[in-house]
Amino acid sequence: MRFRVILAAAMLALAGPTVSAPSLAAGMGDPIVAARQASMKEMAAAAKAIAEMFDDKRVYERHAFQAAADTLSTRAGAALIAEFPQGKLGAPSGARPEIDEARPEFEALARHIGRLADALAVKAGNAPAEITSDMRMTGLPMDGGSLLGKRPGAAEADPARMPAEHLLHLILQDCTSCHSKFRRKVE
Ligand code: HEC
Repeated sequence: MRFRVILAAAMLALAGPTVSAPSLAAGMGDPIVAARQASMKEMAAAAKAIAEMFDDKRVYERHAFQAAADTLSTRAGAALIAEFPQGKLGAPSGARPEIDEARPEFEALARHIGRLADALAVKAGNAPAEITSDMRMTGLPMDGGSLLGKRPGAAEADPARMPAEHLLHLILQDCTSCHSKFRRKVE
């Protein structure tokens, strides 16, 4: 039960008021900012779709799961890094200057979420017609992020061996980790 609450809180944070303000501003601003904000919104929609399927708030549909996981995999990793060109973050934007100042940390986070999303996409590619119990994170520690997320690049559990729901949970943790350090709240 606790996992559902954490997940709901994460989704709320993603949909919070900080989402809309920079989007409005992007209309008059830099195309690179508009492009990456659109990409972030696609990731948010994809993560929400998968979360709702696992939470029984949306009908699970194998192809929708696959499409959403592919979106996350395509937009994370190298593609995410490319959306924040060094020294040209653009304005107005919710991107903090710390992205350039702590570039290795930012890029490690982007690659970390990329590896998780790639693993999820592989699983989704072989997903069964119904959600099976081995896709759920039952029995695993709720705080699965102690190995992952905090120290990208450190030795960690193999994402390919994790249930899909656990991967989603860790992906959402990476969204939150990056936003808390590298995304400015725009009122
Ligand atoms: C490596 C860092 C990083 C990761 C990982 C990351 N984000 Fe972001 N995200 C940002 C930054 C920085 C911004 C602000 C971009 C801007 O305004 O130019 C942002 C903005 C957003 C926005 C607001 C877009 C808008 O219209 O203004 C949403 C929604 C979002 N992210 C969702 C997500 C989701 C969902 C995930 C995980 C699946 C995620 N992000 C992962 C760094 C990250």
